[in-house]
Amino acid sequence: MASYSNTFWFSWGLHFLLICFCFISSTSPSEVYMVYMGQSQNLDTELTTKSHHRLLLKVFGSEEDAMQSVLYSYTYSFSGFAAKLNSTQATTLAKMQGVVSVFESRILELHTTRSWDFMGLTLDNGRATPMQLAFGADVIVGILDSGIWPESESFHEEHGMGPIPSSWKGECEEGEDFNPATACNRKLIGARYYLTGIEQQLGPLTADSEYRSPRDRVGHGTHTASTAVGSIVRNANFHGIGQGTARGGGPRARLAVYKVCWNQKGVGFCSEADIMAGFHDALKDGVHMISASIGRAPPLPPFFKSHADIGSFHAMQLGVTVVFSAGNENSAPHPSLVQNVSPWSISVAASSIDRTFPTKIVLDGNLTFMGESLITSQINGILADAGSFFRDRICSRDYYINVNVSASGKVVLCFSNVGLVSSDTAIDAVQNASGLALIFAEPLARQIPDVDAVPTVHVDLQQGTRIRNYLGLAGRRPVSIQIIPGKGVIGKSPAPAVAYFSCRGPSSLSPDILKPDITAPGVNILAAWPSNYSSKMWNFLSGTSMSCPHVAGVAALIKSIHPDWSPAAIRSALMTTAYMEDTASEVILAGGSTKASDPFDVGAGHLNPIKAMDPGLVYDMKTRDYIIFLCNMGYTQNQISLMVRPGTDTTCPHYFTSTSNLNYPAITVSNLQTTTAVKRTVRNVGRNRNTLYYPKIIKPNGVDVYIWPKVLAFEWFKDEITYYVTLKPRKISQGRYDFGEIVWSDRYHNVRIPLAVCVNITDGVITGSTVSHSDAGLQS
Ligand SMILES: *[C@@H]1O[C@H](CO)[C@@H](O)[C@H](O)[C@H]1NC(C)=O
Ligand SMILES: *[C@@H]1O[C@H](CO)[C@@H](O)[C@H](O)[C@H]1NC(C)=O
Ligand SMILES: *[C@@H]1O[C@H](CO)[C@@H](O)[C@H](O)[C@H]1NC(C)=O
Ligand SMILES: *[C@@H]1O[C@H](CO)[C@@H](O)[C@H](O)[C@H]1NC(C)=O
Ligand SMILES: *[C@@H]1O[C@H](CO)[C@@H](O)[C@H](O)[C@H]1NC(C)=O
Ligand SMILES: *[C@@H]1O[C@H](CO)[C@@H](O)[C@H](O)[C@H]1NC(C)=O
Repeated sequence: MASYSNTFWFSWGLHFLLICFCFISSTSPSEVYMVYMGQSQNLDTELTTKSHHRLLLKVFGSEEDAMQSVLYSYTYSFSGFAAKLNSTQATTLAKMQGVVSVFESRILELHTTRSWDFMGLTLDNGRATPMQLAFGADVIVGILDSGIWPESESFHEEHGMGPIPSSWKGECEEGEDFNPATACNRKLIGARYYLTGIEQQLGPLTADSEYRSPRDRVGHGTHTASTAVGSIVRNANFHGIGQGTARGGGPRARLAVYKVCWNQKGVGFCSEADIMAGFHDALKDGVHMISASIGRAPPLPPFFKSHADIGSFHAMQLGVTVVFSAGNENSAPHPSLVQNVSPWSISVAASSIDRTFPTKIVLDGNLTFMGESLITSQINGILADAGSFFRDRICSRDYYINVNVSASGKVVLCFSNVGLVSSDTAIDAVQNASGLALIFAEPLARQIPDVDAVPTVHVDLQQGTRIRNYLGLAGRRPVSIQIIPGKGVIGKSPAPAVAYFSCRGPSSLSPDILKPDITAPGVNILAAWPSNYSSKMWNFLSGTSMSCPHVAGVAALIKSIHPDWSPAAIRSALMTTAYMEDTASEVILAGGSTKASDPFDVGAGHLNPIKAMDPGLVYDMKTRDYIIFLCNMGYTQNQISLMVRPGTDTTCPHYFTSTSNLNYPAITVSNLQTTTAVKRTVRNVGRNRNTLYYPKIIKPNGVDVYIWPKVLAFEWFKDEITYYVTLKPRKISQGRYDFGEIVWSDRYHNVRIPLAVCVNITDGVITGSTVSHSDAGLQS
C-alpha cells in the first residue's frame, strides 16, 4: 500500500481499536490513566514509588488493590505513574496536592502507514562525508519505535569502533528471539521493550504477530534507526533500484532502542503508558538524543497532558534533544494539523529528494507515456478502464460491479478525482478484482510512488487523460500495455518539495511558536528492513517518520562537535542554517499544491547538515525561558514549580507578555493588532572575536519591520546580544498570515529566522502604542 495515504488506514485502525475497547470495558470499568507529578524530587527510586502507592491508597480500598492497579511507576527525572483507574478515581487524583495532571493513556500511531509487506529504502546515494565519519562516536541516540532487527548490516559494529561511552547506564534486554550476546554490540548498545500498557489497553498480543522482546516485527523501528545512525553499508538497494551507499545521519553514533510500538495487523500502535516508560528509561540510561516518529492528529491535548510534552520537557532539563515527526494526514495541506508542538522539542516536516523513478508505459507497442513507480520488473497486459469493473468508474472495493468479473491480466486505469479515492483505496480495489497492475492518474503534486500490493504507476492528469482517450478510440479492440521500470534517476529538479501528506502549521495549541520547525527528506527513503518478512534487507518508506530520524542523526553530529550545547542551541543551529531554495533556485514547493511553501509548510526550511555544524550565532534557551513561556500560557507558579528541577527560579513575571517573546529561532505573531516589539537574544558561537553582524530583512506584506540595534558587535566568543524587532501593521486585515525573514550576516554566516505575522485589525484606524526604538530603527 502506498505509505502516504493515512486517512483510509487510520480510520480502519480506529475502528479496530473501538472493537477492542468495547471488549475490554465490558469486563472491566478501568482505563489506563497517566498521573503526572512533575519533577522527581527524590533520588531514591523506592521512596518515590512508595509515594505513588500512598497516593493511590487514597482512591483504593486496600493496599493490594492499589498495588495491583499500577502499570508503571516513573521515578527518574519525572515522577508519576500509569495505573488502571475508573473515572472517579482519576478525577479525585487530579485534585490532589503534588499532582500536575491526570490523563488517559491514548493509543498513538507510528507516522507511516501500513508497511508489513513492503521493503526498504535508500535515501542518500553519496558517500559519507568526512564529518560524518569523524564525529558522533560519543553520542548515544535513543529511538522510541517498534524495535530493531539487529542482524541488519546497518547495526553492525564498524571496524575500529571504540568502547561504549562510560556514561552509558542502559541495558540490552533478553527476550523472545533476542539474545543480547549476539544482538548488541558497540553500535547497538541498548535495547528494551514495553508492553504492559498496550496489552492492558488492546488485549494480549498474539504469539505469531509479535516478538515479546526488542525485536522489530513491524519494520518501522529498524528503518528509522538505520536512517538516524545506521552504519555505512555499500550497495544497498531495493530489487536493484535506488542503488547506493546506505548510512545514517550519524553513522558513528551509538544506538539505544526502546520498543514502545507493537504490531497490530501490520500497523504499529503505541500506548502512552509504554512511551512514557521508554522516555523514562532513555533518560535514566543516559541517551543524548531521542527520536520518536509517533503521534496522533489534533485535537491536541494541553501541554503536560501528553507523553510527548512531558517526556521532552524533562529531557530538555537534562540537556537531551528530542526530535518528533510533525505527522502525516491525507488532508495535510490544510493548516494546523501539525503534531508534537511543544517549544522544547523539534517537530519535523517531510519533503522529497532529487530522485525520481521514471517508468515507461507503452500502448500497442508504439505509443509511450512516462509515469513514476517502484516497479522492479516488466509487466505485460491488457489496458482496461476503471468503468469495466467499477460502478461510476470509482476505484473502490465498494463499487466493484460483480465478483464474477475478474480483472485478471488487466492493467486498470483509475483517476484519483473520480469519487475522490486515495491510491491506497484504488490499489485495494484492483487487488480485490484480481487485477494485474494499476495506472493511477492524480494531480502532479500528490504523486508519490511506493512499493504496493498491486504494481502501481503514477501518472499526472494530462497523461491519464491521453491514455483514457486512446483507450476510448480503440473501442472494443484490446489495447496491449507494457510497463517498463527504470532504475531511479538522480537530479530531479525542482527538489526538494514538501510532501503533500506532511502536516502544516500553525500550531493549534500555541500559534505563536512556529511549528513544524524544519523539513527533511521523508519521501521514498530507503533504509534497513527486517529480512525475515521479505527477501530484501532494505525498504522504501515515506512519511514524517522518515524525516524525523534524519534530523536526529544530524543533531547527534552537532552534539558531538559541541557537547556543551543545549537542546535549544542545537535546534537553533538546525533552523537558522536551513534553506528555502530548491534546486531550481526557487522557493521550495508546497506539496499538494503548485504554490511556494511558507514557514507553516517547512518551518525554517530544509535541513542543511554541513552548515548546521557552524551556525555563527545561536538563539539559546534555558529552563527559565520556558518557565516564562508557561506563565504566559496561563500555568500557575505552583504547577510550574512542581515540574522543574530544585533551585530553578519559578516566579512568573508580574506582567503578561506575548509568547512570541520566547527566544525561538523564528518570530510568529498570530494576532498583530497594534505596533509590537519582539525581543530576541543571540550568542556568538563563531570562531572569531570582534565580529560584526548586519541585518537583512524581508518584510511581511502589510507590516513594517524595524530592527534595533542595527549592528550586532560581538567582542568575545560566547558574547550575548539582545535585539528588538518592531512590527507595525499597515493594513486592515483579519486572519491572513504574511511571511518574511530576518538574516544576520557577518558575510560568512547567514543566520536566518522566518517571520510569520497575522495582522488582525478590523476598524479603519490603525492604532499603535509608541514604537520603542523606532527612532533608532532600521526600516527596510
Ligand atoms: C471506582 O473505584 C472505587 C474503588 O474501587 C469504587 O469505590 C468506586 O465505586 C468506583 N467508581 C465507579 C464510578 O465505578
Ligand atoms: C500503433 O499500433 C497499432 C496496433 O498495432 C496500429 O493500429 C497503429 O497504426 C500504430 N500507430 C502508429 C502511430 O504506428
Ligand atoms: C457468479 O457466478 C456464479 C457461478 O457461475 C453464479 O452462481 C453467481 O450467481 C454469480 N454471481 C453474480 C453476483 O453474478
Ligand atoms: C473482494 O472483496 C469481497 C468483499 O469485501 C470479498 O468477499 C472477496 O473475497 C474479495 N476478493 C478478493 C479476491 O480479494
Ligand atoms: C528468520 O528466518 C530464519 C530462516 O527461516 C529462521 O531460522 C529464524 O529463526 C528467523 N528469525 C526470527 C527472529 O524470526
Ligand atoms: C482578532 O481580533 C478580534 C477582536 O479583538 C478577536 O476577537 C479575535 O480573536 C482575533 N483573531 C485572532 C486570530 O486572534
